[in-house]
Amino acid sequence: MPLLELEGVSKQFHARGGKGIVRAVSNVSLKINAGETVALIGESGSGKSTLGRLVLRLLEPDEGAVRFDGVDLTQLSVKEMREMRSKLQVVFQEPFESLNPRMSIGDIVGEPLIIHDRGLNSDARKQRVRETLERVGLSPDSSTRLPGQLSGGQQQRVGIARAIITNPKLIVLDEPTSSLDLSVRAQILSLLADLQRELGLAYLFISHDISTVEYVSQRIAVMYLGEILETGPVSEVIRDPRHPYTRALLSSRLSTDPNESLPRLRLIGDIGSPTEVRAIGCVLAPRCPMAIDACRSQIIQLIEFSPNHEVACIRAEETSDALLSNSISGGGSN
Ligand SMILES: Nc1ncnc2c1ncn2[C@@H]1O[C@H](COP(=O)(O)OP(=O)(O)O)[C@@H](O)[C@H]1O
Ligand SMILES: [Mg+2]
Repeated sequence: MPLLELEGVSKQFHARGGKGIVRAVSNVSLKINAGETVALIGESGSGKSTLGRLVLRLLEPDEGAVRFDGVDLTQLSVKEMREMRSKLQVVFQEPFESLNPRMSIGDIVGEPLIIHDRGLNSDARKQRVRETLERVGLSPDSSTRLPGQLSGGQQQRVGIARAIITNPKLIVLDEPTSSLDLSVRAQILSLLADLQRELGLAYLFISHDISTVEYVSQRIAVMYLGEILETGPVSEVIRDPRHPYTRALLSSRLSTDPNESLPRLRLIGDIGSPTEVRAIGCVLAPRCPMAIDACRSQIIQLIEFSPNHEVACIRAEETSDALLSNSISGGGSN
């Protein structure tokens, strides 16, 4: 049984400003096994954070099931969900914004224990806080300081300490390194990898950038305008991407590597509008250089391309060949 299982999960919003419906997440199914990292990749506005919030039940899905350890979270009462939260934690992109600026580091990190581990007295709690701070590479002395007195990297270590102190099984990492400098980013990634190994954690690692997650994830799910377009083992998807969208994301990453042999693919225009997504046709068709008429008139679903590798593209078989031979038919306006 997977640790986390999403089945047919959808979430719509009224568009900000009042015009139309945003299909933020459409019919998403996804599994994460215990101890595994699944990367969720896509441009800004793809629906990644919404999916993360649905997993944590910070949002209620319109449709579908979110099962954690076999329990459908959408059926739990507020009290049951509060208990479940100790097993299901989150780290956000902006560490400073997610930390109360007036609380000491020790109180921030210890707070989840007050909610989830009421049996602990204050001394035992302080001891747990000290151990947890050390485990994330902070000195126990930092517990008396305020978030504003720490660097961005240290603040993110506090966010991670707060997430692991309740011994969770799964952590949703929502772009945890995107606001950090490159050198600090590498340290935080390495800390997350160490913690995963030591504590047997599973991660849903959200990022707009494939290079960030490539070495720390086992599987990848590529999201665009609310839908998962490709999913599979990271090494296979990066070596042999079958969806034009994945290929395009990799093309932007590879632009710094002159030895890379994968042919480039450039999408037409910017990310589409989530208020204009229709039920029929591929969500990428308006931007896809490989799109043909059938891409606009059929229901496009994820289908197995090879074991564990699924692609929502009717031209998945041809992706590399079409690009290599420069024989892309269709053009954007076909
Ligand atoms: N509470 C909300 N109300 C209206 N629209 C929202 C809300 N939350 C997210 N959206 C919209 O849903 C889409 C997906 O957003 P989000 O999940 O934040 O994407 P990502 O994390 O991939 O950047 C965007 O178009 C965003 O503007
Ligand atoms: Mg986001």
